[in-house]
Amino acid sequence: MKVVSIVGARPQFIKEAVVGSEIRKAGMEEILVHTGQHYDSNMSGVFFEQLEMKKPEYNLEIGSGSHGFQTGLGMIKLEEVVLAEKPDCLLVYGDTNATIAGALVGAKCKVPVGHVEAGLRQFPKDMPEEINRVVTDHVSHWLFCPSRLAMENLEAEGIGNKGIFVGDVMLDLFKRMVPFFDGTAVLSKQELEPGDFILATIHRDFNTDTRDRLEPILKALAMISQKTPVLFPLHPRTKKAIEKFGLESLVKGISLIEPVSYLEMMGLLKESSFLITDSGGLQKEAYFAGKRALVLMEDSGWRELVDAGWNLLCGTDEAEIVRKALQLGKAVPVPKGIYGNGDASEKIASFLQQKSREVPH
Ligand code: UD1
Repeated sequence: MKVVSIVGARPQFIKEAVVGSEIRKAGMEEILVHTGQHYDSNMSGVFFEQLEMKKPEYNLEIGSGSHGFQTGLGMIKLEEVVLAEKPDCLLVYGDTNATIAGALVGAKCKVPVGHVEAGLRQFPKDMPEEINRVVTDHVSHWLFCPSRLAMENLEAEGIGNKGIFVGDVMLDLFKRMVPFFDGTAVLSKQELEPGDFILATIHRDFNTDTRDRLEPILKALAMISQKTPVLFPLHPRTKKAIEKFGLESLVKGISLIEPVSYLEMMGLLKESSFLITDSGGLQKEAYFAGKRALVLMEDSGWRELVDAGWNLLCGTDEAEIVRKALQLGKAVPVPKGIYGNGDASEKIASFLQQKSREVPH
């Protein structure tokens, strides 16, 4: 079995780190393709080094651009890779433009596609990541689902027959790397005390790209930081938006830092009081770390955590953010067993190995 794995952005590197290693451990060949969507060393290189990931055989160097540019150029370049490598299957991860580009190329080249982290659904339906998820699931062959709800979502769209419940691959990585989580260097540099700060991240286009959403979010964080320090690793998109709208004065009281590595981020999460975020992955990693999250989105792909009362959804009204953040300090029962046992990547690898016996050589 020859597998071509396609990654491009931060959340995909951490998924491939565990899935790719299990695939290779099971004796299958993996060709790794980096589309180059994320390219700064703190957005890409540091993940490959720290998680001891395989060096990609291909870097397509697509970089930043519009959705059409990233998806279209991604398809052109990925098709060349598929034609040259003639793989038995493609693996795509999550919901970025690299995911949809890979899934469409696989479908059109008639190469089976496996989607890791399939079946997530959320409003608004026109969010780029949601479009990527829906299209990817409909054109892919094997939909590796992180939760039972994801399986139900596929059923509701008439594609439940392609769903395979494996659990969450990010839980696999979390469990393996827990001994190495370390946020102490960041905390001491920022003069913050473990257990006495709130971790915040904002990067979604709908929260950053208009002033009328970004401004109240930053005002709320500024207000919260008067009581409890706020540590805010800044995505390059958000940094540019703050500069563009001239909102620098609002973030003066917040500890703004450059994007951090996976091990640092998980270390910070473990030491934080709670999380305020619009990141998909981080709101779930907070749960793995036993922390609650205020999710600045209309809906969540990880709906189970919201339904269980663990994570709270919130709009971008300043007062609402402050009010709901106060509620996060309360202890609530921990929801259990939603995302499998931490062996999702092994299950994916053994599924593919099983399939390889069916592939004529
Ligand atoms: C992408 C994914 C999103 C994921 C996020 C994780 C899509 C549609 N979205 O969003 O699902 O949650 O990655 O971070 O694929 N930039 C840099 N250096 C980099 C990368 C980006 O400066 O290494 C800047 C560029 O100005 C770029 C902007 O960040 O225009 C946004 O990057 P992009 O990859 O388009 O989307 P993300 O917001 O990162």
